[in-house]
Amino acid sequence: MTAHPNPSPMTAGRNGPLKGRLRVPGDKSISHRALILGALAVGSSRISGLLEGEDVINTGKAMAALGARIERVGEGSWEVNGVGVGGFREPAATLDFGNSGTGCRLVMGAVAGCPITAQFDGDASLRKRPMQRILDPVAMIGARPLAAADGGRLPITLQGARDPIPIVYRTPAASAQIKSAVLLAGLAAPGETTVIESEASRDHTELMLRHFGATLTSEPEGAHGRRITLKGQPELAGAAVTVPADPSSAAFPLVAALIVPGSDLILPGVMTNPLRTGLIATLREMGAQIESVEERTDAGEPMADLRVRASALRGVEVPALRAPSMIDEYPVLAVAAAFAEGTTVMRGLKELRVKESDRLAATADMLRANGVELEIAGDDMIVHGKGTVPGGGLVATHMDHRIAMSALVMGFAAQRPVRVDDAAFIATSFPGFADLMRSVGAALS
Ligand code: S3P
Repeated sequence: MTAHPNPSPMTAGRNGPLKGRLRVPGDKSISHRALILGALAVGSSRISGLLEGEDVINTGKAMAALGARIERVGEGSWEVNGVGVGGFREPAATLDFGNSGTGCRLVMGAVAGCPITAQFDGDASLRKRPMQRILDPVAMIGARPLAAADGGRLPITLQGARDPIPIVYRTPAASAQIKSAVLLAGLAAPGETTVIESEASRDHTELMLRHFGATLTSEPEGAHGRRITLKGQPELAGAAVTVPADPSSAAFPLVAALIVPGSDLILPGVMTNPLRTGLIATLREMGAQIESVEERTDAGEPMADLRVRASALRGVEVPALRAPSMIDEYPVLAVAAAFAEGTTVMRGLKELRVKESDRLAATADMLRANGVELEIAGDDMIVHGKGTVPGGGLVATHMDHRIAMSALVMGFAAQRPVRVDDAAFIATSFPGFADLMRSVGAALS
């Protein structure tokens, strides 16, 4: 089940300023959701700009195994013919989600509302990640795990509900994956399914459910949360989806341009949903020159072209409340913090421990191996920026694409090159990363 039996090391070094236009691939969160909702809708959905990374391709394979017709009609262009809400058929083989927590957890939710049994599995990284956070709410809806590894981990056999029950569920963490799994399971239930979150997480599922014809309300809950209510058993109708560029992928060239002297990059069509832009807000507070031009909206999702120029950065304090809007961006923010002058304190990073790797530990190791001073205090990370980074280290990526890309970005500006043990997992979220970075002047070998 390991996707990459042959590790492929990669080294990044200094090579002058980064200049030009760089189009990053489609958003991973939206790509997964477009395939899943397309598969649950009646009729045909045309998706353009789909991220053709391994994570999303695995979700597409799962949708085909569950009965949808999925066809690639051009580069990034896919047509999905769905089975209708509750209409998944029992898959003949195990659904293998590879490295992807999002694909696995969202599809578990969608399957939980259908009267079928399916087996879920993934690679060594995904097998370590917590799935009980999905098994708990789907059990309330009426689904039942027939088998699971220790601690509710993969491989899992899930029997979906014959008569799904609408529930009111308060998520135990600010997690869009938990919220989305409950909403997708609730599609097949009669009546109203409600999810309450005490801190708002990314709302792509809500926006796309409406786009496919579901009735859903989203109201403020407390100071920072949301109460989302979905009317069950909607007639989802096939829809056109244009996937904007992924801000979590744009984060890598963005930080690279800030720290490599003389750089000036344009990143076109990047999604700027406010529940995803915590990194941009933080970098601006640090002194980053990031301009947002040509702002527009498509299918409820805002986007803009970003122009970013090399900037002198200073340390800041990043509040815990901002974490949900930049949860995947802390490793590369830590790199920016290492090149800043002064201390950056990042608070409330508990959820980082359960990503593709223990990202808190992996980020700390990545920085220390390259001569950066930092501490971890409880769930906070404190990076002491010196304006420059010695580099010269070998970074263990732990099957984590974002650790690999963050380390390589550090290498573009460090005094000595930075090497990663395995760059293969970059293909899960950002296929073409190395070639795109080279096309604007980066040195990768
Ligand atoms: C995602 C939600 C986040 C994020 C992941 C994608 C999504 O996970 O880290 O990369 O598409 O819903 P959590 O919901 O577990 O925080």
